[in-house]
Amino acid sequence: MFSRISRLGFRILNETRVAQNSITKRSIYRCRDQNCCFNPLTRFFFSTGTTTSDKAQSDGNQSNETISVTFVDKEGEEKHIKVPIGMSMLEAAHENDIELEGACEGSLACSTCHVIVMDVDHYNKLEDPTDEENDMLDLAFGLTEMSRLGCQVIAMPELDGLRLALPAATQHFYVDGHVPKPH
Ligand code: FES
Repeated sequence: MFSRISRLGFRILNETRVAQNSITKRSIYRCRDQNCCFNPLTRFFFSTGTTTSDKAQSDGNQSNETISVTFVDKEGEEKHIKVPIGMSMLEAAHENDIELEGACEGSLACSTCHVIVMDVDHYNKLEDPTDEENDMLDLAFGLTEMSRLGCQVIAMPELDGLRLALPAATQHFYVDGHVPKPH
């Protein structure tokens, strides 16, 4: 009787181990997929930061649709570009070789992406700036009533035709130390 019970216990133990093995194999198989969210490597190497366009993509807002945006530099020269919905004006500027610095890469720790919205209708369509954005804007040279940080202005259909002026000067930052350097 005792040996029958111990054989039964052994069988249950064995079957549990086999079941665990197959679960582990399935997990390993899934984790070979680089895009799999369970893959720890994916999470480690590919999630160091989230750009605004990443966020839009994950929210399902990214589309092939674009809007027209004009950047006007300090000499008055205009550059017309197409900006995909969901992309920030900072990213759009960088993709189109427009001189908008963005020292902190959109993490709201500088004001080097300062832009001035040239049309009040467009300005009013933007979401209100957060306290963090306002804090950074306070440090920007040439602040106006229509100033925004380019990294916080996200392309959306209502902004088609947006015109943004680049200020005559920007304030440089050492992002961690906030030591301004004249530009
Ligand atoms: Fe630094 Fe926009 S890039 S706040």
